[in-house]
Amino acid sequence: MTAAATPTTITTTPVPFQDLTRLHDSIAAEIDAAIADVIARSAFVGAASSASFEDAFAAAHEVDHVLGVGSGTDALALALRALDVGPGDEVIVPAMTFVATAEAVVHVGATPVIADVDPTTLLLDAESVAAVRTDRTAAVVPVDLFGHVIPFSTIEAWQADGLAVVEDAAQAHLATWQGRPVGSVADAACFSFYPGKNLGGFGDGGAVITSRFAVAERVAKLRDHGRESKYLHDEIGFCSRLDGLQAAVLEVKLRHLPAWTEQRRTLADRYQERLGDRLVPWETGAVHHLLVMRTDAADRDRLLDALRAEGVGAGIHYPVALTQQPSLKPFLTDPCPHAEAAAASVLSLPMDPLMTLTQVEYVCDLVEELI
Ligand SMILES: Cc1ncc(COP(=O)(O)O)c(C=O)c1O
Repeated sequence: MTAAATPTTITTTPVPFQDLTRLHDSIAAEIDAAIADVIARSAFVGAASSASFEDAFAAAHEVDHVLGVGSGTDALALALRALDVGPGDEVIVPAMTFVATAEAVVHVGATPVIADVDPTTLLLDAESVAAVRTDRTAAVVPVDLFGHVIPFSTIEAWQADGLAVVEDAAQAHLATWQGRPVGSVADAACFSFYPGKNLGGFGDGGAVITSRFAVAERVAKLRDHGRESKYLHDEIGFCSRLDGLQAAVLEVKLRHLPAWTEQRRTLADRYQERLGDRLVPWETGAVHHLLVMRTDAADRDRLLDALRAEGVGAGIHYPVALTQQPSLKPFLTDPCPHAEAAAASVLSLPMDPLMTLTQVEYVCDLVEELI
């Protein structure tokens, strides 16, 4: 027997990283009815087919305009285009994020400039932004990483300094900062409805939210072939609309999102009580898309494998900083040591709105035994 090497915790069930099938099953009847309704009306594509969801999403974030688009990546590119960011401009992005944050900048012909993150919060660091800013800097794209919101005071300082701010809120649906909804201060904020997100569709989807009418009007045109009227096109646009089936699914799920978000917060609070400083910290209002701990970099793979061997779904977000991405090599300048250290040491633990506190205890018991 090798009892000494085996964690002694009694397990009731494996703990998946997230369980989309279980989430879907819990609201299947509502989803089926919504899909049937879209089919009955043939409301597949076009502004009218996504309007009802867009209105609900706007109300949830207390903004005037929501434009559903084809993906979170497209949302970022369309928002930048709508703010007239393009060739010759530089756009500052954090080194710790999903690659799409920088990819969107390249798609509009601008140059991504990668800045380091705060070593503790892993959010874009204002001093690092100041250090890479030049007279070509047109915009900043801070990321609400893991569902932790970038302080609005920082966004307002950038705006006061003459920069456009496009908030990458792909992981932060319904989050708040000091009581104000995510995206309500930036010039535009962009969401992803990728299936695994806090609000996820049955395929790709995204949205731009803004309270600036001119930005909304431009995104509305750009997402639909630069269309002025049915066959008159003002400018070269994209085919990037949120389709009717996705919008219907998202509208159903949005009704459940406040309760799901509260459960994420309850689970995160328990993780916090158990694992404390080992976790990447957050402020009140975070929505815990991911629950991320820091590990000893040399030991992370062992911990990851051991958790998985015990039936705990764990992952790494993100194992490669933007400064280390081959596709971004042409844009690289200085290394970003904090982001690179984070990429080597972060570990994401299970987080799912239908997860139980008992499962959190099981995961935390295991982590404590394994480290
Ligand atoms: C921080 C961040 N930005 C942008 C995106 C891009 O969203 P999408 O996959 O919908 O294009 C994602 C999603 O993966 C993301 O996590």
